Amino acid sequence: MSLLSSCAEFPGYYGEFPYRYVEAMPVDVFVETERLLLRRLTPADLDLLVELDSDPAVMHFITGGIPHSRAEIESEELPGFLSYYERYDGLGFWAAIEKETGTFLGWFHFRPEEDDPTHVELGYRFRASAWGKGYAAEGSRALIEKGFSEQGVQRVMASTMAVHVASRRVMEKAGPRYIRTFQAEWPYPIPGDEHGEVEYALERHEWERASQDKRRGGE
Ligand SMILES: CC(C)(COP(=O)(O)OP(=O)(O)OC[C@H]1O[C@@H](n2cnc3c(N)ncnc32)[C@H](O)[C@@H]1OP(=O)(O)O)[C@@H](O)C(=O)NCCC(=O)NCCS
Repeated sequence: MSLLSSCAEFPGYYGEFPYRYVEAMPVDVFVETERLLLRRLTPADLDLLVELDSDPAVMHFITGGIPHSRAEIESEELPGFLSYYERYDGLGFWAAIEKETGTFLGWFHFRPEEDDPTHVELGYRFRASAWGKGYAAEGSRALIEKGFSEQGVQRVMASTMAVHVASRRVMEKAGPRYIRTFQAEWPYPIPGDEHGEVEYALERHEWERASQDKRRGGE
């Protein structure tokens, strides 16, 4: 394997070596956490997205478990994800890469809600093999921190089905608090959908107060 051949899991990342061996290599990293790198998605990620959306467990709360087809991802989903980079500075979809192995784990979105870049919607979709390790909460916390401290965000919200306990737990661990339960049109019936959707949110002043409390706690 040549040092200069690119890694499918990590375009812009050269060679097949885990992150720790290539720290000096050029990588377009948007956010770095203890265990994750978040970078832009690219057209070269098509196969990874197809694999992600082909797992019925991953798609359970999104389409009732129906995989997205390769054609749908290629012609609609991926172009939709990439279009945020042209319209917004630093808001959109981010591939999550495990630093230790260079493995693509899934993605986050941190995108304007209704075209307002100060009101952002958080979301995430991870491979089942990556669940339960705290990755979604870790990346969400980092995006929220960057959004409030560097990007002028005023409010972060997220929503999910009321019965999606893992997603609700990620929101709670990352900072947003429960706001309301509401009913939404849901074309894919699954057990528990009668309980509706839940919205979580974190306002800028709440984040500032929590940050101050954390700093005081550390003093
Ligand atoms: C939702 C999702 C991103 C969570 O990712 P993750 O990396 O496993 O999340 P984390 O490990 O950070 O946290 C998950 C939390 O939910 C808890 N959890 C998971 N399943 C649970 C369940 N059935 N009951 C109770 N708690 C549960 C975990 O214990 C953990 O909480 P803890 O750290 O307090 O123990 C992941 O399951 C996923 O990608 N699902 C498919 C796509 C999807 O549904 N996206 C969200 C659409 S709204």
